[in-house]
Amino acid sequence: MEIIIKKTAEEAGRAAARLLAEVVQKKPESVLGLATGSTPLPVYRELIDMERRGEVDFSRVHTVNLDEYVGLGPDHPQSYRRFMEENLFCHLSIAAENTFVPDGLAADIPAACDAYEEKIAALGGIDLQLLGIGHDGHIGFNEPDRVFSVGTHQVHLTAMTREANARFFPSAEEVPASAVTMGVGTVMQAEKLVLLATGADKAEIVKKALEGEVDPQVPASVIRLHRNVTVILDKAAASRLSQGRESALKRI
Ligand code: F6R
Repeated sequence: MEIIIKKTAEEAGRAAARLLAEVVQKKPESVLGLATGSTPLPVYRELIDMERRGEVDFSRVHTVNLDEYVGLGPDHPQSYRRFMEENLFCHLSIAAENTFVPDGLAADIPAACDAYEEKIAALGGIDLQLLGIGHDGHIGFNEPDRVFSVGTHQVHLTAMTREANARFFPSAEEVPASAVTMGVGTVMQAEKLVLLATGADKAEIVKKALEGEVDPQVPASVIRLHRNVTVILDKAAASRLSQGRESALKRI
């Protein structure tokens, strides 16, 4: 596992963007696994700038997103489909039909989850999966559990996650109670993982995920079992790390 520590969240985001862009430069028809939330916003801004500068071409890329709220469709301002359209897809040359986000409005959610797994397999798997981390260690919407989840499935969101995401909704009650998410197993099948965490509020969970036990109670800890993973942190998110902290800090 490689850990890169940058001074600011913006710089950490740019470093993550460069890793995504490298994958696309090497393989223009790459499949990128994407995340929503505040953390990847600097990544998406940089990818948009890079394509504008002619450094990378997204016209042949496919994307698959980690998750979506159940009950929210593309027209809902807080749906993850809408988030991706506004913050990334509509600014890139990527074809709309090559972007996939789980369907929060599916009549048959289990069938839609199976279809999402089949879609990822039909695309040839994910070349690079970008991950954020929740305060309880969730990746995608895989919340702390007794076991690591396998495939795409429906989850009930914890009070902590709903509270953390309430900032995007007019009121906390409007945060959906459940979501569809790729499973931990789906994530672990990606060729490469990039976990990005920024801000002092993530320092404690980053320490647990990177230095504690690999434990389904801290879902992000599973990434340590992946053969090709880069963790990118800003100084604030890295501030509680002990092991290797000195050497990692040298790479600022
Ligand atoms: C969303 C996702 C989540 C977020 C996590 C952190 O697609 O995968 O696991 O990465 O909730 O969210 P932010 O970045 O808003 O702190």
